[in-house]
Amino acid sequence: MKTKNRVLSGYRPSGKLHLGHYFGNLMNMIELQEKYESFFFIADWHALTTEYANPKEISKSTNDMVLDWLAAGLDPKKATIYRQSEFPEIAELTLYFGMITPLPWLERCPTYKEQLREIKGRDLTTFGFLGYPVLMTADILSVKGEMVPVGEDQLPHLELARETTRRFNNFYGEYFPEPKALLSESKRVPGIDGRKMSKSYNNAINLTDSSDEIRKKIQQMITDPKRIHLSDSGHPEVCTVFALHQSFNPNNITDIENKCKNAVRGCVECKKMLAEAVIDSLSGFQKKRKELEKDKEIVKRTLKDGAEKAGFVIRDCLEGVRERISLKLV
Ligand code: TRP
Repeated sequence: MKTKNRVLSGYRPSGKLHLGHYFGNLMNMIELQEKYESFFFIADWHALTTEYANPKEISKSTNDMVLDWLAAGLDPKKATIYRQSEFPEIAELTLYFGMITPLPWLERCPTYKEQLREIKGRDLTTFGFLGYPVLMTADILSVKGEMVPVGEDQLPHLELARETTRRFNNFYGEYFPEPKALLSESKRVPGIDGRKMSKSYNNAINLTDSSDEIRKKIQQMITDPKRIHLSDSGHPEVCTVFALHQSFNPNNITDIENKCKNAVRGCVECKKMLAEAVIDSLSGFQKKRKELEKDKEIVKRTLKDGAEKAGFVIRDCLEGVRERISLKLV
């Protein structure tokens, strides 16, 4: 008997995770695994759509990401954790969906047009890159995912997945549930330069950074530019250090705000407090991460167990698909 709704989401192997990932989706995943039947997978084929000429980092990034997931509290007993590339069935499903996806659906995708324009130094006029949302549709439907936690940037892809689902069901009979986006209110933490925290901006605090690295990064942060002397009153609303205090010192936030506005505490001191709060809140994670690292097989084992669980669902799904599109011999 099926009792819980099924959630599925994929994550590009981006290597060591940073605070932006933690507050943006990892925290959310840890909550979801309690409530839903959760499938979380490493989208390593998706990484290839842009990194095909230089794929060296993908396996190391996968390794780091799984270790970070486990140390942060994703539990393989609760969530099914696997790698997309272990399932030829997903590639097969991509092929079938490719047959029924009209090209204009792909060409009009805003993410496609934008990335073609924005991502420099790589030729993205490829079949694989255009077909990215078809692959994503196959990811979702291969486990008959009902809810998909995604950021806003992924909504056009999810819309395409829904259209493809309707088209498939129309041609071949009701088979797939129409997946719904699960938009969570994730906190957006700024990087140390005030922009969105991102590996490519070089402004991230990684979950695995040492205490000294964290102190150094936070000391470099720019605070309220109008506050030059300690005796000047500060404007917390424009200060990135304050923005991070909101996540790391929520209980003292009024005091921090007042001491800044009333020029009681200087920026250097305020940054020191922030650094210690960040270090403190990461200490449990880091201890666990170090323990996990000692077990050289843990990532392989986790992904193998996850693939075994996902395999039942995915193979069963593909059987049904082949039957519906007349590929099963009678
Ligand atoms: N496209 C997503 C991203 O770049 C990753 C992804 C791949 C995904 N397949 C998915 C997300 C399926 C949700 C469901 O972040």
